[in-house]
Amino acid sequence: MVKSSDENSFVAKYLQDDDLSQECKELIPTLPSEKAWILTHTYQYQGFWIATKKFQGVLSCQKHFQALDSDIILVTAPKSGTTWLKALTFALLNRNKYPIIHNNHPLLISNPHSLVPFLEIDLYSDKDYVPNLNSLSHPRLFSTHIPCALLPKSVKESTCKVVYLCRDPKDMFVSLYFEEAFESFCRGVSSYGPFWEHVLGYWKENLERPEKVMFIKFEEMKMKPSFYLKKIAEFLGCPFFNEEESKGMIDDILNLCSFENLSNLEVNKTVRVATGVENKAFFRRGQVGDWKNLLTAEMIKQLNTITENKLGKHGLSF
Ligand code: A3P
Repeated sequence: MVKSSDENSFVAKYLQDDDLSQECKELIPTLPSEKAWILTHTYQYQGFWIATKKFQGVLSCQKHFQALDSDIILVTAPKSGTTWLKALTFALLNRNKYPIIHNNHPLLISNPHSLVPFLEIDLYSDKDYVPNLNSLSHPRLFSTHIPCALLPKSVKESTCKVVYLCRDPKDMFVSLYFEEAFESFCRGVSSYGPFWEHVLGYWKENLERPEKVMFIKFEEMKMKPSFYLKKIAEFLGCPFFNEEESKGMIDDILNLCSFENLSNLEVNKTVRVATGVENKAFFRRGQVGDWKNLLTAEMIKQLNTITENKLGKHGLSF
């Protein structure tokens, strides 16, 4: 791709950035790039579009992150329900340490993103800093948007568990809606996109290694939340005891992590996460099908056709 002079000056400036490793500085000019919608700049690395700021994190994470067999990694493409999945899994795994119905449950005072860090955005975003994860309690709970093919080697080679949550691309796109972004999204140029290849990577891994990768759709989890929470608990090796179920613990977790509850907490209305994003940005409507109100018939047809062409033959639909 020929770069415009604007783009050249952006890249040149970016390459002087002290926040980048030598490896990253050398790679960037060799990659296809786009100046795309909400991302200042995005680069296509091994088939996937990664925003400038995240690229260093992906490389560092690939290099330094050592997964343990007991680790749990939550994976999503952005705007697929990451915040909800983080809240549910955090509440589930810590249900003995932090009783669900206590007034001081961490989810009542911290945003789910502060409790479950992103590997490439929070932990490995700095080129020189390798975080010491020794003090984390086990199982360690992380999250990432990294596509399956780009996951650190140790994630693939260990027996750590991966929970993948995806969402109808129409709602996912609407969640980030920008008119001019539609064409880019359809071409696959979206954060950690192409969306369809992101989903497919984890879908295939789930078919091959169902004991390692769990695959969930946002729409199904909205429809049958208790069924899926139980499934996640079983998959992660911490199923609910009969006594917990009869005491109503599943509903307690679902209520604690519900859109209505989390989005109305002071911490999620006023505070920002470490990267500067406002916590309220993670809570818009939390519904299925808002695309019907926002996309044109033409846009719906186009997204449905791409989804059918790319995913239909693999037995996957939204
Ligand atoms: P909408 O924009 O459709 O409302 P992510 O967490 O991956 O950034 O995804 C954000 C989407 O998940 C937003 O969708 C947001 O409202 C929704 N969401 C956030 N918390 C939720 C919750 N507890 N339950 C259901 N949906 C939630």
